[in-house]
Amino acid sequence: MGKLQGKVAVITGGSSGIGLATAARFVAEGAYVFITGRRQAELDRAKAIIGSNVTAVQGDIANLDDLDRLYEIVRREKGGLDIIVASAGYVEVLPTESVTPEHFDKTFGINARGTYFTVQKALPLLRDGGSVVLVASGMHIKGFPAYGVYAATKAAIRSFTRTWAAEFKSRGIRVNTLSPGLIETPIIDGQFDSKEEADGARAMFKQITPLGRIGRADEMAAAALFLASDESSYSTGIDLIADGGITQL
Ligand SMILES: NC(=O)c1ccc[n+]([C@@H]2O[C@H](COP(=O)([O-])OP(=O)(O)OC[C@H]3O[C@@H](n4cnc5c(N)ncnc54)[C@H](OP(=O)(O)O)[C@@H]3O)[C@@H](O)[C@H]2O)c1
Repeated sequence: MGKLQGKVAVITGGSSGIGLATAARFVAEGAYVFITGRRQAELDRAKAIIGSNVTAVQGDIANLDDLDRLYEIVRREKGGLDIIVASAGYVEVLPTESVTPEHFDKTFGINARGTYFTVQKALPLLRDGGSVVLVASGMHIKGFPAYGVYAATKAAIRSFTRTWAAEFKSRGIRVNTLSPGLIETPIIDGQFDSKEEADGARAMFKQITPLGRIGRADEMAAAALFLASDESSYSTGIDLIADGGITQL
C-alpha cells in the first residue's frame, strides 16, 4: 500500500519542476492530486505526465478569487483535503539598487501573500490530521547578492510554518517547510537573460555545493513525501533543508 493511500492533496505549482515531481510521486503513493498553475498548456502537459488521479485547475495564487475557485472544485469533487504542498513561487534576480516597488510587490504578492492565502483558504476543507508543506528555499538562510526580496519572501514562509504549526496542532495538522538548494527545474533558465548566464549559475552552485552537484526534482518530491506522510509523524514546525549541504557546511 502506498504511503498516501486515499489521501487528497492540493499542490500549487504542480504543473512544473518540484511541484510536478511531487504530484507524480504522491499519485504513485496512492493519493489524488489537484495541481495548479497559471499556464494551461503546462497544466495539460503535467496532467498527461501524471496520468491518473489528477485534476488540473488553472489559477494564480496571487488572485484570491482563483484560490476560492480552486477550493470550490476540491470541495465539489472530493469533499475535503488532507495535504497541501505550496510549491508555486516566483523569482527575479535583481541587485538592490535595481529593485522597483513593482518587483517587490510582485515577489511578495506571489510567494508570501499567495502562499499565506493558499493555506488560509484551505482551512475549512483541511481534515484533522492533515499535513501542510510550504516550499521555501535555502536562500532564506543565506545572503546571496541580488536575491534579497525573494529570500525575504522565503523567510516569511518559514515564519508562517512556525505560527501555523502552533495554531493547528490541536487539530493534529502538522506544518513544515521544505527548503531546497539549487534544483534542476525550468525556474533556473527562467531567471536569467541567456542560457550562458544560467549555465554560469549552475557551474557556480555545483562548485559551492558540498555534495558537488545540482539537485533533482525527484529528490525534492521524496522530501515532500516524507513531510506529507506519516513518515514524519513526530515533526512539525521544522525546516527540512534539502540542499546538498550548501547552507550547512
Ligand atoms: N529550483 C530551484 O532551484 C529552487 C530552489 C529553492 C526553492 N525553489 C522553490 O521551489 C518552488 C517550485 O519551483 P520550481 O523549481 O519547481 O520551478 P518551476 O519549475 O518554474 O515551477 C514553478 C511552478 O509554480 C507555478 N507558479 C508560478 N507562479 C505562480 C502563481 N502566481 N500562481 C500559481 N502558480 C504559479 C508555475 O506555473 P505557471 O508559471 O504556469 O504559473 C509552475 O508550475 C518555488 O517556490 C521556488 O521558489 C526552487
